[in-house]
Amino acid sequence: MAVDLAISVRGLTKEFGGRRVVDGFDMDVPRGAIYGFLGPNGSGKTTTIRMMCGLLTPEAGEGTCLGFDILTQSQQIKEQVGYMTQRFSLYEDLTIRENLDFIGRMFRMRDRRLRVDEALVGLGLEGRAGQLAGSLSGGWKQRLSLAACMLHRPQLLMLDEPTAGVDPKARRDFWDEIRRLAGQGVTVLVSTHYMDEAVQCDQLAYIAYGRKLIAGPARQIPAMVGLSTWAVEGGGDLEAALRGEAAVVQVARFGAVLHVSGTDADALAAAVGRHPGAWTKVEGGLEEAFIYLMSGAQDNFAGVA
Ligand SMILES: Nc1ncnc2c1ncn2[C@@H]1O[C@H](COP(=O)(O)OP(=O)(O)O)[C@@H](O)[C@H]1O
Ligand SMILES: [Mg+2]
Repeated sequence: MAVDLAISVRGLTKEFGGRRVVDGFDMDVPRGAIYGFLGPNGSGKTTTIRMMCGLLTPEAGEGTCLGFDILTQSQQIKEQVGYMTQRFSLYEDLTIRENLDFIGRMFRMRDRRLRVDEALVGLGLEGRAGQLAGSLSGGWKQRLSLAACMLHRPQLLMLDEPTAGVDPKARRDFWDEIRRLAGQGVTVLVSTHYMDEAVQCDQLAYIAYGRKLIAGPARQIPAMVGLSTWAVEGGGDLEAALRGEAAVVQVARFGAVLHVSGTDADALAAAVGRHPGAWTKVEGGLEEAFIYLMSGAQDNFAGVA
């Protein structure tokens, strides 16, 4: 194997009540990477993460997580992986220390007390260890959850939408912590639908309707999709006129700004030039790339539902 992989899965497929929610999913996550897992709500991210942890048995597919078989070695995976679920999964009516201590007992840590103390210091929560976890703000709950799933010093972190609903400052702090852990050699798989977080990842996979639409280095994805994009401020009339241009394959609105994309860069430049405005070229447009992939996916899956 050329690259040392923390996760390598092939053909993962899951059905709920006869409905296929994950379909033939492949993923390779190199060790040490921050790997972003993107996709709209209901696209199958959580289900895929649970299969990769060995917590959910797929209908089809196979693979390894940290070298362990996801179908048969879920116990070993659990010992080496820190999994942070989408919802706050600590006990709101236990104190911060009690929550960490409980996890230490679950993993039968001999040096439990020391690790809990270290985690509290790492969080800067020594002085508040006796406070109920339920009384923490959203951002602090996320940081406590992260510390809790790092307590057994896993090699791989799986974070399922860890910053959903958390304010921007807390999200930045959380990402500082993710990068710090990655710097120590921990592999991080993180699901998100924030584009500003997607660009922080080394690699990305985008899933929709249970199928992977693209995967690759974050910086190369717009080029892989083959879109070039221009931005301009404008209203509904301009939007309609641009949609009438043959070279324009997509117009996405971000507030007052229109992002106009096409697959033929020269034809697109000529087309936007026909419409007055302060046009600027958009570099590395991940969001446009995903919107474009999604529209293609909708056509492909229109008959499936
Ligand atoms: N335990 C379950 N039983 C039935 N349907 C489920 C279950 N878990 C998830 N689903 C369905 O599977 C699809 C994918 O869900 P999920 O993996 O949670 O997506 P995401 O995490 O990307 O939002 C959704 O349509 C969801 O309703
Ligand atoms: Mg989910």
